[in-house]
Amino acid sequence: MTKTVHIKTYGCQMNVYDSERMRDVLAPLGYVESDVAETADLVILNTCHIREKAAEKVYSELGKLRDMKVARGGDMLIAVAGCVGQAEGSEITRRNKAVDLVVGPQNYHRLPELLKARQSSSKAIVETEFAVAKKFEDLANRPSPQGAVSAFLTIQEGCDKFCTFCVVPYTRGAEFSRPMGQILAEAEKLAACGVREVTLLGQNVNAYRGAGDNGPENLARLVALLSQTHGIDRIRYVTSHPRDMDDDLIAAHASNEKLMPYLHLPIQSGNDRILKVMNRGHDVAHYMKTIDKVKKARPDIALSGDFIVGFPGETDAEFEDTLKVVEEVGYAAAYTFKYSPRPGTPAATRDDQIDEAVKDERLQRLQALINQKTKTFNAACVGLILPVLFEKPGRQEGQLIGRSPYLQSVHVAAPALRIGQIADITIKAVGPNSLSGHYEGAVESHITGAFAV
Ligand code: SAH
Ligand code: SF4
Ligand code: F3S
Repeated sequence: MTKTVHIKTYGCQMNVYDSERMRDVLAPLGYVESDVAETADLVILNTCHIREKAAEKVYSELGKLRDMKVARGGDMLIAVAGCVGQAEGSEITRRNKAVDLVVGPQNYHRLPELLKARQSSSKAIVETEFAVAKKFEDLANRPSPQGAVSAFLTIQEGCDKFCTFCVVPYTRGAEFSRPMGQILAEAEKLAACGVREVTLLGQNVNAYRGAGDNGPENLARLVALLSQTHGIDRIRYVTSHPRDMDDDLIAAHASNEKLMPYLHLPIQSGNDRILKVMNRGHDVAHYMKTIDKVKKARPDIALSGDFIVGFPGETDAEFEDTLKVVEEVGYAAAYTFKYSPRPGTPAATRDDQIDEAVKDERLQRLQALINQKTKTFNAACVGLILPVLFEKPGRQEGQLIGRSPYLQSVHVAAPALRIGQIADITIKAVGPNSLSGHYEGAVESHITGAFAV
């Protein structure tokens, strides 16, 4: 019998990957995915705990779901997965009695048996054990990407770094790397389904140390082997930590054509004292040296990062140091956040918290500078011929939307092209969130023309 599951995903790309795997583990039970919660037999919220707003959204969404469940006479299952599930466990079922199941990020491979357990229990089920190795063994060979051209592939999970602001080490557990064979097999399966680009995921993806045939291997080695997978033409990875950006990986950016020229390398703050109290384990000089090496290896690389403004005790002058880093690095894109105190993290209990108004003002200044840098980067692309991988149709007839090597969205009117093709596109103009270009007939070649930012 067919049943429907509606999965709502919050947070990072790893949650997107996990939601797809949840769909895969539920398929043998007869569940098909539905876009609407109202009529679904099972609703899963795959949640994020990184900032207060993200976590609070879950409780308001659960309130709405409770009303829907009541309107349907109780005929609906509600599950909370992801990092809020892990962090808050039975607090969720206490606050909202309509919730049937809470399942942490390391347990969702057991959804079928947990749903069954719920049927024979009068109480909600809460499962938040850390069983990461077992999860990946159970999930091996599951992916069914359903027509996607680009797919995520989790290779590493968890974090041992304990930045003083961050919940991830508590919600995702200790660093764990999947064995290389398992990852290569998953990539082959994705390629067989038509995927041409894989983005390797990990909370500290460049700390990857998965078992290979002769002991642990690093990310550079994994990328090298992965680039031999027939059908996989583009490889990306996210998120990297500055401490783990080793020379092998930097060298891969110079030598491996399939490794896309894009690096997301968060620094969080441009001030050494703040980096120290954040427990980042590196200073600004180390970060800038790494950026220099990366730019030498691949001069056209697009750089991106994450920044937190208003960490406890951050002075105006210390914030200005962050602006200096942005100025110097010249990011192609970046994510900016106001510091959000998270329960259980050391920075949350500090008594030098920054006023919301000050955080707002700093955020605006930082965003304005980053927007300017993004504009400069994009404007430098006009006139270049870039290979674009087409992912989806555009709004207009005959229009396609794809990605440049630098992760920019590119719109092209080209009825002759198909989704899944890589074609050389001459970039003609820059819009607010995308580039547009012309197709002049060449498909499947590589970047032409010098490009230095
Ligand atoms: N592992 C990655 C980041 C994972 S979280 C890394 O170390 O870079 C994604 C981003 O959320 C972080 O880079 C940080 O900028 C932001 N973030 C994490 N905790 C936060 C908090 N308490 N308040 C505001 N932003 C936060
Ligand atoms: Fe969080 Fe820091 Fe770990 Fe990144 S490195 S996940 S910011 S604790
Ligand atoms: Fe959020 Fe968990 Fe990802 S807290 S950012 S969903 S690892």
